[in-house]
Amino acid sequence: MMCSVSPNRTCRYCVVFDPLDGSSNIDCGVSIGTIFGIYMVKDKDNVSLDDVLQPGKHMVAAGYCMYGSSCTLVLSTGNGVNGFTLDPSLGEFILTHPDIKIPKRGKLYSVNEGNAKNWDTPTAKFVEKCKFPKDGSSPKSLRYIGSMVADVHRTLLYGGIFLYPADKKSPNGKLRVLYEVFPMSFLMEQAGGQAFTGEQRALDLVPTKIHQRSPVFLGSYDDVEEIIALYAAEEKKA
Ligand code: F6P
Repeated sequence: MMCSVSPNRTCRYCVVFDPLDGSSNIDCGVSIGTIFGIYMVKDKDNVSLDDVLQPGKHMVAAGYCMYGSSCTLVLSTGNGVNGFTLDPSLGEFILTHPDIKIPKRGKLYSVNEGNAKNWDTPTAKFVEKCKFPKDGSSPKSLRYIGSMVADVHRTLLYGGIFLYPADKKSPNGKLRVLYEVFPMSFLMEQAGGQAFTGEQRALDLVPTKIHQRSPVFLGSYDDVEEIIALYAAEEKKA
């Protein structure tokens, strides 16, 4: 879901947001959240849909609010990432996680493995490597909640990689570019991680539709580097 920009108004910013991401998890009490990204409009006297069809790297701020065992706001205005926790007695968000940096490599991977039979070769090889590393390293542990905000929040704090890849049934993946992939990719980069679509840096993607989808691999820098290398090797073979 996203806001609509009224052509009758002049404004400086426009916001793209997913008001309740992971909503299929509400009834069983799993953490869910709101994801948002903010762009500056190109011409404040002439706002249009094009103002939100900009690459994610043009966002001036992005973040999410997670409704879980605590209510957490994670925000970047393009100068690092900060985390705030709601203190209900004060009615205010307190800075509890200043300058979040994602570990360079993580011990966790996060993906819906139920889609494995339809994955492409790089994704399948990557997950195989997570489980059966051949370089003497320990296997990674799997954590998958199925609620993007919660899966990304854990990835940001503990490190590792979150994947929602393309597959034969969903060649563009599932997640929405404007209000899932871009804000989370912005936060990851700001925290020292990476985000990749399987073809390019996620934030370089130029969207053409507001509800466009894209595959995404995001998280710790070195973990994402591995999937980038696997896609590059696959492209060389073709
Ligand atoms: O896009 C909505 C969403 O619930 C995300 O929050 C989550 O990452 C994803 O879908 C889970 O999809 P699936 O149930 O296919 O694993």
